[in-house]
Amino acid sequence: PVLGVMCVVGFVVALVEVALFDFLGRLVDLTKDVPAPDFFARHGRELAFMAFVALVARPTLIALSDLLMHQAVTPGLTARIRWQQHQYVVRQSLSFFQNDYAGRIANRIMQTGASLRESAVQIVDALWYVGVYTGSALILFAQADWRLTLPLVVWVFLYIGSLAFFVPRVKDRSWKASEARSKLMGRIVDGYTNIATLKLFAHTRQEEAYVAEAVQENVAKVRGMTRMTTGMDVTLTVLNGLLVVVTAGLGLWLWQKGLITVGDIALSTGLVIRIENMSGWIMWVVNGIFEDIGTVQDGMETVAKPNAVVDEPRAPALRITHGKVEFRDIHFHYGKQGGVIAGLDLQVEPGEKIGLVGPSGAGKSTLVNVLLRLYDLEEGRILIDGQDIARVTQESLRGQIGVVTQDTSLLHRSIRENLLYGRPEASESDVLAAVHGARAG
Ligand SMILES: Nc1ncnc2c1ncn2[C@@H]1O[C@H](COP(=O)(O)OP(=O)(O)OP(=O)(O)O)[C@@H](O)[C@H]1O
Ligand SMILES: [Mg+2]
Repeated sequence: PVLGVMCVVGFVVALVEVALFDFLGRLVDLTKDVPAPDFFARHGRELAFMAFVALVARPTLIALSDLLMHQAVTPGLTARIRWQQHQYVVRQSLSFFQNDYAGRIANRIMQTGASLRESAVQIVDALWYVGVYTGSALILFAQADWRLTLPLVVWVFLYIGSLAFFVPRVKDRSWKASEARSKLMGRIVDGYTNIATLKLFAHTRQEEAYVAEAVQENVAKVRGMTRMTTGMDVTLTVLNGLLVVVTAGLGLWLWQKGLITVGDIALSTGLVIRIENMSGWIMWVVNGIFEDIGTVQDGMETVAKPNAVVDEPRAPALRITHGKVEFRDIHFHYGKQGGVIAGLDLQVEPGEKIGLVGPSGAGKSTLVNVLLRLYDLEEGRILIDGQDIARVTQESLRGQIGVVTQDTSLLHRSIRENLLYGRPEASESDVLAAVHGARAG
């Protein structure tokens, strides 16, 4: 709905902008018709109206459209897209995160939100605006003389044609350039992260050559892209020059034949110069939109994977009565052909203590992970007090299981918040007891 309102406001703003040039034409014509001393007396009202449009109406409309864009749409829309994506991603299974870099996923979420908003806003703000602008310019030209519209119409076709030619090519090359940049970045980061190893092996020369190669590739790819953008700029400038010269020339010729007024020449030349000014801007906007759409597609590919471990609809919470755990003929091999756990049966009676012993890689951690339902079994069932763990909510299941992990990890928050993470309702004395219990007090 806000985008709809923006469309309407954009429409009116474009009309007002075009009207300014219409005023210019009128002024030229008016000064010609009337003897100078009578000018203000005769045309005072019309002049006052023009001044009102320029001084009051236009600023008000532009303020309105700015408010809509920068207050109503921009912050809210971006935040909403990011929030929805985060809500989805944070519920993804563990394997989703193991198959990708956390930093990359987070980056995708931040970028997709911004790009999606940017492309939507630009389409409404820039393309729509320029469309209306050009359309109403053509109507004004036609009112003077239909032939005056010809150069602009031809130009619009050529312009769209050159967009169609250049934009996909620029996009393609800028994608390649950004790939090369990632590669360079990767090599540098790899070196810094493993700096101790690098120094131990003292392969400075070799390491430099490795990075230098990526630098060169990056430069070549960037040049490939800038060649395209230069070509685009030059083509556009030539087209624009033609538009201005042909329109002005045609205007003068029509005026010579007595078909249009001097005011019409002022109007048409002024509008055409304004349109050519905007054309460079629009070319970049269209470029940006395509790039944004690419980013959104990439982001969607990363983010919109189906969730691998989901709660059944209206799954009940797990209810612990005795604490009996049964593994019934379970099979799990991380989605591979075989291995890890194949056909395991195990019953743990309430209160029973069990130790699992085995060499590294035997599958001890895996067994605990499937009990926590961090992964879904490939075959078999796990029951706790007779309830299949795949049928109850993941939260209620994990909430009932205490785990001391092999690796410790602290969330990037205060120690107190980390301590309270498992039991947010714990009292001050509980916290202190835990601190002393861990000999950390
Ligand atoms: N995320 C994963 N994706 C694919 N295979 C995995 C994954 N995690 C573990 N594995 C494989 O599953 C097997 C069992 O690993 P697991 O971590 O359960 O062993 P473990 O008995 O806990 O070993 P350790 O004593 O070293 O902790 C190993 O062969 C391991 O390579
Ligand atoms: Mg382990």
